[in-house]
Amino acid sequence: MSGTGGRSNETAVGKRPAAAALRFSVAPMMDWTDRHCRVFHRLLTGRAALFTEMVTAPAIIHGPRDRLLGFSAVEHPVVCQIGGSDPDQLAEAARIVEGFGYDRIDLNCGCPSDRVQSGRFGACLMAEPDLVAECVAAMRGAVTIPVSVKCRIGIDDADSRVMLPAFVAKIVAAGVDSLTVHARKAWLEGLSPKENRSVPPLDHAIVFDVKRAHPALHVAINGGIRNLDEAEALLAPREDGTTLDGVMLGRAAYETPEILAAVDRRIFGAATPDTDPFAVVEAMEPYVAEVLAGGGKLSHLTRHMLGLFAGRPGARTWRRILTVGAIAPGAGLEVLREALAAVRRPPREAGAAPAA
Ligand SMILES: Cc1cc2nc3c(=O)[nH]c(=O)nc-3n(C[C@H](O)[C@H](O)[C@H](O)COP(=O)(O)O)c2cc1C
Repeated sequence: MSGTGGRSNETAVGKRPAAAALRFSVAPMMDWTDRHCRVFHRLLTGRAALFTEMVTAPAIIHGPRDRLLGFSAVEHPVVCQIGGSDPDQLAEAARIVEGFGYDRIDLNCGCPSDRVQSGRFGACLMAEPDLVAECVAAMRGAVTIPVSVKCRIGIDDADSRVMLPAFVAKIVAAGVDSLTVHARKAWLEGLSPKENRSVPPLDHAIVFDVKRAHPALHVAINGGIRNLDEAEALLAPREDGTTLDGVMLGRAAYETPEILAAVDRRIFGAATPDTDPFAVVEAMEPYVAEVLAGGGKLSHLTRHMLGLFAGRPGARTWRRILTVGAIAPGAGLEVLREALAAVRRPPREAGAAPAA
């Protein structure tokens, strides 16, 4: 594995995927979908689009770019999610992101946190479709890679069946390449970001209405999708023929990453066997070794892998060895190997089914 040190723009040439990769994507998740997580997810699925955590436009322009934007060549197709609402700033940030070799840029119009609202971006932008359209147009004018948007169905007391169509019409007119809808409102007062991912009710039907109104727009659905059965059901045509173009999974993909092992076959129709999670851990070794050699900590990598064997005998021991072992000073590959050996020959765990 190479290119873990920073830019990989040269590797992206000729590899820019069409929106097809968005048929299944792993959601942008702050603190979760960092570059280490994405490398791990990529070993589980070769085809899914992987989103970065949200990075704000000012941070991209003024901050430590290599740290914020650096990624590994293996992560393609990889989408950089940006937060912001100043068209000029977003255009400049988009140019920088394209220079790093990302396959696509996504504008965050769904994050409800206070910090984000005070910066006038995220979910509160759903009330400013003209501004978002300006932002999309400015970014499109600045780069050759596609620009997409991720939004909610509405905010606060607004009628989603009015707010969402008005929002979508504007960004479509501005040339947005694709749209992912987190199918619940954001309530901007009184709920934490975490509550805003579960308390406002899901409304998947409204996402089909968006697709019906804009058949040429790539529309992906997000929110509450727990497994590939549910993902496949949402990708199936409705009675009137309306068919969504993509699904995006967040928490389920992160917490039970083995879901990703069957994505290439089940969602993309690849004639490949499902990925073996044991082989994935072994395949992580060169990357882990490279990160450790560069001064990184084992726990920064293994924290994303804790859920890999969820539901299998030995899963608890796997978690325990990784959780405790990886934070020890100087922890290295031996901890990962010990944890893998334990799940290969699982000890008896209270409450766990005996190994077959
Ligand atoms: C820890 C965490 C961080 C998140 N950070 C972002 C983010 O940076 N940008 C964004 O658009 N959505 C973010 N989200 C929302 C997810 O992308 C997704 O829309 C939401 O979790 C619903 O999908 P799910 O039910 O499949 O998890 C985050 C979600 C979680 C759990």
